[in-house]
Amino acid sequence: MVTLEQIHHAFQKSSGDQYLDFLAQRETIERILQLKEQKNVLVLGHNYMAPLVYNLSGEGERGDSLQLARYAARSDKPIILFDGVRFMAETAKILNPDKKVLIADMQAGCSLADPFRGAAVRAYKEQFPGLPVVIYINSYADAKAEADYCCTSSNGLQVVQHAAKDFGTDQVIFLPDSLMGENLQDELREAGSALELIYPGKYDTKHGSCEVHEKISLEMVQNIRDQYHLPKHQPGKTLPETAVLVHWECLPEVRKEADLCGSTSQMIRYVREHPSLQRVYLGTECEMAANLQNEFPQIDFVRTCAIACQHMAKITLDKIVKCLETEQPEVTVPEEIRRRALKPIERMLQIK
Ligand code: 13P
Ligand code: SF4
Repeated sequence: MVTLEQIHHAFQKSSGDQYLDFLAQRETIERILQLKEQKNVLVLGHNYMAPLVYNLSGEGERGDSLQLARYAARSDKPIILFDGVRFMAETAKILNPDKKVLIADMQAGCSLADPFRGAAVRAYKEQFPGLPVVIYINSYADAKAEADYCCTSSNGLQVVQHAAKDFGTDQVIFLPDSLMGENLQDELREAGSALELIYPGKYDTKHGSCEVHEKISLEMVQNIRDQYHLPKHQPGKTLPETAVLVHWECLPEVRKEADLCGSTSQMIRYVREHPSLQRVYLGTECEMAANLQNEFPQIDFVRTCAIACQHMAKITLDKIVKCLETEQPEVTVPEEIRRRALKPIERMLQIK
């Protein structure tokens, strides 16, 4: 259980500004922790939450989409507060129909999930009958309900390979992220796999992308490498002192330029597992670098704060207090859709 003292301690070690923010918000944080305990709430926090929100969740309560879905699946608490965006809270509800799932702001959307609903998945199934559909977790319940498997950025490669094997095919429909689809396809090809992914934009003019990650251009990453002296690491030669780590939702040329492409937690793991690191650029939402900066004060994180998610930023301490007090807004999913959406999520969770 996270205590006010622990949070105080964490921010005391952080940059001056963050400590002042903590002091200014101390009473609100204390009230949230009281409500969390009184109401026996599991507070899940995504890696992109601003530091004061991120620190409301402790070990086993924060992480990437896959970890949070797993924590939600094994929760025995009557209420789950999801500090993340709506599709994540909805996934927790699909896994926990009898629990109350709350989100501080129902408008916390996602540029991948918002425009891509069930009818769009059905159209791909009609166009490519018989092929398995893998849907990225960044989608709503009605879209998941039409899919065969769900995946996250942590397990996309495993899930598409699994789906192809189960269906005895070498073609898999991957929705809705065109850039992640292309990145996964490139990685499969580089590994010598003949598996073909069909994603928006490959055989049509549709396109799905993250409005945050698509802003990270190759030119920008190359400039960061030059200006901050972040040379490409030669694996096996020396221990890395610098690293450029990017997310699967980035442009394919950016993935190729990076030292590692992964989910948010895979990037965090890379930093944890390489104590030789001195300077790191994270090609992802900028609050994650702020959270890692607090955990690793000895590392210089290059932050590009124009790369921020407006949806994640909707989750604020003031809204969280109100949400815990009133137990509103509550995330609901119609039962018929929930049951169908559960299948692809369960299939994903069974894949180790
Ligand atoms: P992760 O599953 O890697 O945390 O990604 C979620 C997300 O929305 C990335 O933009
Ligand atoms: Fe969606 Fe991109 Fe925000 Fe992630 S960062 S929630 S993919 S808009």
